[in-house]
Amino acid sequence: MLHGKTIVLGVTGGIAAYKAAAVCSQLTQRGAEVHVIMTASACKFIAPLTFQTLSRQPVTLDTFEERDASVVMHINLADKADLVLVAPATANILAKMAHGLADDMLSTTLLATTAPVLVAPAMNVHMLTHPAVVRNIEILRERGVRFVEPGEGQLACGYVGQGRLAEPQQIVDKVESFFLETKTFQGKRVLVTAGGTQERIDPVRYLTNDSSGKMGFAIAEAARDLGAKVTLVTAPSALLAPSGVETVRVVSAEEMMQAVLNRLSETDIVIKAAAVADYRPAHPSAQKIKKKAESLTLELVRNEDILQKVGELKRSDQFVIGFAAETDNVEQYAMDKLRRKNCDLVVANDVTQSGAGFGTDTNLIRVFDANGLVADLPLMSKYEAAMRLLKIAADKMHLAGGAG
Ligand code: CTP
Repeated sequence: MLHGKTIVLGVTGGIAAYKAAAVCSQLTQRGAEVHVIMTASACKFIAPLTFQTLSRQPVTLDTFEERDASVVMHINLADKADLVLVAPATANILAKMAHGLADDMLSTTLLATTAPVLVAPAMNVHMLTHPAVVRNIEILRERGVRFVEPGEGQLACGYVGQGRLAEPQQIVDKVESFFLETKTFQGKRVLVTAGGTQERIDPVRYLTNDSSGKMGFAIAEAARDLGAKVTLVTAPSALLAPSGVETVRVVSAEEMMQAVLNRLSETDIVIKAAAVADYRPAHPSAQKIKKKAESLTLELVRNEDILQKVGELKRSDQFVIGFAAETDNVEQYAMDKLRRKNCDLVVANDVTQSGAGFGTDTNLIRVFDANGLVADLPLMSKYEAAMRLLKIAADKMHLAGGAG
C-alpha cells in the first residue's frame, strides 16, 4: 500500500513518543521509506537507535549535522517527502508550525516542505483546550494541515480527558487513506468558478455581490489535494491563487462565460461556485457618469446563464455541480435549479444562517441530486465542506475514494 512513498516522521518530546516507534514500524512494514527527525526533547523519551533500527534509515537530530556534502539535509528531506507526519505533536511544535518558527531540524523541515502535513497531537487536556493551542490548530487547519484527533482517556499526567495520542494503528490508517484520497481524481480535469462577477457601470463604478470567492477557492484546493488537475476561473477576489492550481482571473459574467466555454470540452468536472451577476448595465459609460437629475435609472440586461449553457453542452461523461445560495425555500429552489440547468449535483446553502454563505470561513451545505437530498452537512470549514462534496461527486462518478 505504501510502496514507493517517502514519509518524514517528526517525533517531538512527549511521553507518547514511544508510540511513534510502533507508527514507524508499521509504516515501514507497509512499504514506506520512513525518515525520522527527532527533537532534542523527544530524545529524552526514546533513543534514536530505536527509530534507526525500525526504519533502517539514519535518524536526523540536528540541522547542522550534514552527513552528505552533496545535499542540504533539511531541504533534501523536505523535498523528498510525499507526506510529513508529526506524531506525537506537542503544543510547542504546533505553535512553531503555526507561526513559522524554524529553530531545529524538524521545524525547519516543516517550513521548507511543500508536501502535505499530517499531525497527531498529544498533550495534557488543559494544554489542548488552551486558547493559544486551539487557535494554533485552527491556523494550521486553515492552511490545509490535516489532523489525527487525539483520543480520550487516562493521560500520563494523571488527568482523564482528551489529549492521548491516537493509537498507532489509527495514525497509520489515516496515512493510508491520505494516499488513497490523493488518487481519487487522478487524471481528472476539474474546472471551478469562484467569486462575484463585476458588471461595469462606468470607469469607477460597478455592480457586484457579496461573494468572497472562499468556497470556490476551497473547492479548487480540495480537488487539487484529491489529485485533480484544476483550473480556477475567478471573478475579482482578495484571496491568493492556490498553489498547484491554474488560476484564470476574469471580471464580468461575459468574461467568465468565455473562460468556461473555452475550456469546457477538455474538462471532466465543472463546479460553478461563482455568484454570477444575472444582469449587467445595458449601456456602460466610457466616462464617469456625472450627477445631474434627482434620480437616475440604470437599464440592465440579462446575462447569459453560464451554468445553464454548460448543462446544455454537457457530454454524458462530464459531471456538473451547481450552487444555489438562497434565503428561503432552499430545497425547492435547489431542485428547480438542478433540473433547469441539467446539473448532476446542486449545493444549496441558506445564506441567512450564521456561519454559512458569503464571506465566512465556514459553510452549512446541503447536497441534492436528481432524486433529492443526498447529504445535509453540519457547520464545517469551507475546505472540509469542499472535501465532502467532492467525495460525494467521486461516489456518483464511481471513482475509488468516494463518499459511499
Ligand atoms: N449561474 C451562472 N450564470 C448566471 C447565473 C447563475 O452560471 N448568469 C450559476 C451560479 O454559478 C450557480 C447557479 O447558477 O452555480 C445558481 O446561481 P443563482 O444566482 O442562485 O441562480 P439563478 O439561476 O440566477 O436563480 P435566481 O436568480 O432565480 O435565484
